Amino acid sequence: MPALSGIQPTGPFHWGNYFGAIQQYIELQDTEAQSYYFIANLHALTTVRDQELLRQYTLNGAIDLLALGLDPDKAVLFVQSDVPEVSELCWLLLTGTPMGLLERCVSYKDKMAKGIKADAGLFTYPVLQAADILAYDATVVPVGEDQLQHIEVCRDIAQSFNHHYGEVFTLPKGKVLDQSARVPGTDGEKMSKSYGNTLAVFEEEKKQRKQIMRIQTDSRPMEDPKEPDGDVLFDLLKLVGSEEEISEMAATYRKGGFGYGDAKKALANAAERYWGPARERRAEWAAKPDAVREVLAAGAAKARAKAGEVLGRAQEACGVKSW
Ligand code: TYM
Repeated sequence: MPALSGIQPTGPFHWGNYFGAIQQYIELQDTEAQSYYFIANLHALTTVRDQELLRQYTLNGAIDLLALGLDPDKAVLFVQSDVPEVSELCWLLLTGTPMGLLERCVSYKDKMAKGIKADAGLFTYPVLQAADILAYDATVVPVGEDQLQHIEVCRDIAQSFNHHYGEVFTLPKGKVLDQSARVPGTDGEKMSKSYGNTLAVFEEEKKQRKQIMRIQTDSRPMEDPKEPDGDVLFDLLKLVGSEEEISEMAATYRKGGFGYGDAKKALANAAERYWGPARERRAEWAAKPDAVREVLAAGAAKARAKAGEVLGRAQEACGVKSW
């Protein structure tokens, strides 16, 4: 059961990226026969148009994943653009993709609604994502909830190709975690770089504390008993707190008479304990960028071997090879 997922290097990774997706990558590298994880720099081109920044974010993304526990001896870690076979496969898929399928994609519709000018890259983004997944015969795609629609689109594209040309592609399934499929940000909305409500995984301690103290809480009097689930502070504590801290906080919410300031302090302390060790590992990897580049080059070689095999199969099936 090959697992695969990608993450865009559009800035520092945040708690949503980690608890929705990266945490699953780390778990699956031990249980799945083969797993592929990549930095989706071609997708990031749809938003990051500063070449130096994109280079920096790409290398930093790999450093972050290594520091968070991705093990290159267990999983294949690479940069998307190092596997040109995927872009070639993308073209084969584009030719059979109905416009209407892409027009229905929420991430595209949302950006249009916000007045962001769309280019063809943004519109066809899900087709490149489908190529990413299909190129490795991936069956399990660990993601946050927001990516499920793209995985459905991928299945539609694969099914229609298979229907037309024969069984070429394996159909993938998205995998989300119940407790963190949609991690809330500091304003209670889904945590997302484009909403400016993120808590970065590798934030410096003082800044993280400040950001947590600024989390928007509801305006009900603090004396009132309150259901903890669905409250942003409690939901975030559930991700980084110990079992004891979580049950204590739940009891305090239900009893009432507590202050949000105390809840924020408890969250900041738990966060520091949770991220501290990874921050140290990150400093170690960051000190040896060439070793990171070597990991990525070795990963790309493995990824290309697999993607080349699948691309060959697809080319053969649709008549652009052996003519
Ligand atoms: P991206 O870079 O936006 O996000 C990376 C991963 O983090 C998850 N995520 C969240 N999960 C829970 N709560 C949140 N608040 C939250 N915010 C982000 C995302 O669901 C994702 O799993 N299109 C993809 C990148 C991609 C990809 C692929 C993914 C390119 N090719 C192939 C899977 C397979 C994206 O933009 O993710």
